[in-house]
Formats: sequence, C-alpha cells, structure tokens
Amino acid sequence: MPDYLMLKHAHAGFAYLTVLSFAARGVMMTAKPAWLAAKPVRIAPHVIDTLLLACAVALLVVGQLNPLHIPWLQAKIVALVVYIVLGTVALKRGKTPAVRWGAFFAALLTVLYIVAVAKTKMVWPF
Ligand code: HEM
Repeated sequence: MPDYLMLKHAHAGFAYLTVLSFAARGVMMTAKPAWLAAKPVRIAPHVIDTLLLACAVALLVVGQLNPLHIPWLQAKIVALVVYIVLGTVALKRGKTPAVRWGAFFAALLTVLYIVAVAKTKMVWPF
C-alpha cells in the first residue's frame, strides 16, 4: 500500500502537469501546429488526468477521508466538474474564438482555485 505522503506528492505533480498541458493546448489553439494532432500528444492529457484522479481517490482511501464530511473536498469536486466543462468549451465545443478564450481563462482561474483550496483546505481560500 503506497503511503499518504507519496500519493500526495504524485497527485500534486500530476496537478501541475495537467495545468501546464491545458495551458499549452489553449495557447496552441491559435497556432495549430501539425504535431498537436499526433496521437501521443492527444492521449497524454488523458493519461495525466486519469493518474491525477486515481491518486485523488487513493488519497481518500488511504487517508480515510470522506468528502461528504469535508467541505474543502466537496469544493474541489464541484470545481473539478466546472473545470472539465469549461475545458471542453475552450478546446472543443466553443463556437467562436471569444467564447473559447473566455472559457479558457475561466478554466485557468478555476484550476488555480482548486490548487488554492488544496493548499489552504478552505472552501474560500483568498
Ligand atoms: C484538477 C483537479 C485537482 C487539482 C489541480 C488538485 C491539486 C492538488 C494539489 C496541488 C495538492 C497538494 C497541496 C499541497 O501542496 O499540500 C492536492 C492535495 C490533495 N488533493 Fe487535490 N487536486 C485536484 C483534484 C482533487 C480531487 C478530485 C480530490 C478528491 C476529492 C483531491 C484530493 C486531494 C487530497 C486529499 C489532497 C491532500 C491534502 C493534504 O493532505 O494536504 N484532489 N491537490
């Protein structure tokens, strides 16, 4: 059984990777280089996100944390859903550049909020 601290470092590492990869894909929306369509480049974000969430679930199990009783974990879960929806609008579903860029910056703010919640363990960390 991996220990809590190890899982936490892995989870945090994948969290920073996911923010970086999302930001990079957002910025590349305008340039659209050919390598962006390469299979490994398209799959990598899904691998990172799956590992991020797998570590999150493992942290809950190993740390015996029940999100139903812990408000800052509930805030993270809700914000994660918001981040995913905004992310798909930004990178896929947004019909105009204005909508896409708006969703992109809102998604970045949302993920920064998630990191701030993780660090402070407060629903409103600011
Ligand atoms: C995009 C999604 C997420 C991001 C960016 C993220 C980010 C982070 C970061 C950066 C940390 C380390 C905080 C520190 O330095 O102490 C952390 C810790 C943690 N996260 Fe997440 N997280 C995400 C999703 C989740 C989800 C969905 C859960 C579970 C419901 C979760 C549960 C935890 C737990 C239990 C810790 C350890 C808290 C501690 O013991 O200090 N995270 N997260």
